[in-house]
Amino acid sequence: MSAEGTGGNADTNGRIRTDVAHNARVWNYWLGGKDNYPVDRVVGEQVVEMFPGIGEVARADRAFLGRAVAHLVEDADIRQLLDIGTGLPTGDNTHEVAQRLAPEARVVYVDNDPIVLTHAHALLTSSPEGSTAYIDADARDPRRILRAAADTLDFERPVAVMLLGILNFVPDTGEARSIVRTLMDAVPSGSYLVLTHPTLDADVGGAGNQPAMDFWNANATPPITGRTRAEFLSFMEGLELLEPGIESCARWRYPEAAPVPQFGAVARKP
Ligand SMILES: C[S@@+](CC[C@H](N)C(=O)[O-])C[C@H]1O[C@@H](n2cnc3c(N)ncnc32)[C@H](O)[C@@H]1O
Repeated sequence: MSAEGTGGNADTNGRIRTDVAHNARVWNYWLGGKDNYPVDRVVGEQVVEMFPGIGEVARADRAFLGRAVAHLVEDADIRQLLDIGTGLPTGDNTHEVAQRLAPEARVVYVDNDPIVLTHAHALLTSSPEGSTAYIDADARDPRRILRAAADTLDFERPVAVMLLGILNFVPDTGEARSIVRTLMDAVPSGSYLVLTHPTLDADVGGAGNQPAMDFWNANATPPITGRTRAEFLSFMEGLELLEPGIESCARWRYPEAAPVPQFGAVARKP
């Protein structure tokens, strides 16, 4: 495990801050987890009051993760995954989905929240044939992530780069695109990009959610940004979008589901 830093969410001594709500912990609260503090539950509930569908977004995102990883491992022969913005361990973490189908799969997790580092042992329960690793790092330093991930992943072979619910914490769209480009430039043809991202677009039910995002930005960390379908598409420039293209993550390869305002897509590097 690499633990070179504690990311941007710790206090100056690298400790977990319990005076302000953190995304990893509030996300855990919305998913029904117990790894959160009173401040996370208070802010989490206030967001629910403004946007009652937020729990459904979190569950749909995790279900998308399960379908996307299963597809890549089963149908696209992917055996290496780099999951950036992992979140706290929950049901069906990436390595569990992947190694159930291919025990030799190798998974590297990355997050910058000190509480995720504290719980990382639950992500390091690899099958004997495969491998898992955890890197405590910021997505805004993709070169450092690539250097550390090379201890576990072979960058001569295809990798699925996963950025689920994290580019929304990089407010500048140009910087977010540059992160994706740096990561995808480092992986060979036949690699994949897996993305989810919240949106205010009306066709997937996001139109009324600006007040909830404003509330989050005034009361929690890190600040969040919604993006349009066109902005989401721009992250996949130069890649081949898999069917069904950009969808609400709830409906990606599960068309009977009701949409949630979080896009999901998987794209292949040609
Ligand atoms: C909404 S959660 C998503 C968790 C998981 N990917 C999922 O889809 O369920 C976002 C995660 O990204 C992490 N995160 C936010 N900004 C980050 C950054 N700049 N670098 C690394 N991780 C970050 C948070 O700590 C949190 O665990």
